[in-house]
Amino acid sequence: MKSKILEILEKKGGYVSGEEISKSIGISRAAVWKHIKKLREVGYEIDSKTSEGYKLIKSPEKQIEFELERMLDTKTIGKKILFFEEVDSTNNKAKQIALEEKEGTVVISEMQTSGRGRRGREWHSPKGGIYVSFILKPNMSPEKAPQITLVSSLALVEALNSMFQKLNAKIKWPNDVLISGKKISGILTELSSDMEKINYIVVGVGVNISTGINNLPENATSLKLEMNQDISVKLFLKSFLEHYDSIYQEYLNGSIDQIIKRWKNNSDTLGKKVKIIGINETYEGLAKDIDENGALILQTKEKEIKVYSGDVSLR
Ligand code: BTN
Repeated sequence: MKSKILEILEKKGGYVSGEEISKSIGISRAAVWKHIKKLREVGYEIDSKTSEGYKLIKSPEKQIEFELERMLDTKTIGKKILFFEEVDSTNNKAKQIALEEKEGTVVISEMQTSGRGRRGREWHSPKGGIYVSFILKPNMSPEKAPQITLVSSLALVEALNSMFQKLNAKIKWPNDVLISGKKISGILTELSSDMEKINYIVVGVGVNISTGINNLPENATSLKLEMNQDISVKLFLKSFLEHYDSIYQEYLNGSIDQIIKRWKNNSDTLGKKVKIIGINETYEGLAKDIDENGALILQTKEKEIKVYSGDVSLR
């Protein structure tokens, strides 16, 4: 609604009456007033005159939230975006609101003070990166939840490769995205469910957009460093959220086989000799394939095994 009100005010340029706004978007004048109040709170300067209505004087500099919502061509993902300059963790924020939010709501922050990585690790989250969490509520059994991680890494890698032709981003199992062998993104998927039903899944993705070399951990890189050019966060988010939406719709329509095929085409791990440090064990062998839930099929010296999580390094 706020986006629609802004669109009307921007188009008109001058004063628009509360009545006109309320008629054109089908809400009451009191509701229009409430949205105007909210817009002012987030930094929009909107003048109001009893006889003439509302006039947009100035937009705040960083209103990616509204601009993105308006730019996006998606069915579910990003219909609502919550944008922050700083949060503890977008996954924490998303989990706090997940039950009352609709599927597809996205929490985005420019910085995190307690970013979390896989296996309880810290995810260093300085300015220059972008930190995104998706709230999903697929109607499926909880065992299938790991497939959402495949959907997410594929969405990111296809978005990056379609934005930048020569980038050649790849997926390192289970779900890191690499450029030139260096990590540009990590994904943390968290599930809330009972035995039969998923309440929600929060998928958190951290991407190094313009992060400088001094702010990156070893073996990591950023889009800016790789492309040697300034990167528009807004355009990146548009591409990522739109790819995410289209792959997620394919997934809901039952196309996991196609998704796995494309995931494999973008894999940096399959066909290579690897060492995997799991929670309790370390495995070595040839990364042969992944199964329909994303588990890695590893040919060790002795036998073929399935590995469900771990940190991969090349042998
Ligand atoms: C990994 O260990 O590779 C996964 C890192 C996931 C980081 C993202 S950033 C957005 C979201 N919020 C978090 O606290 N973590 C995830």
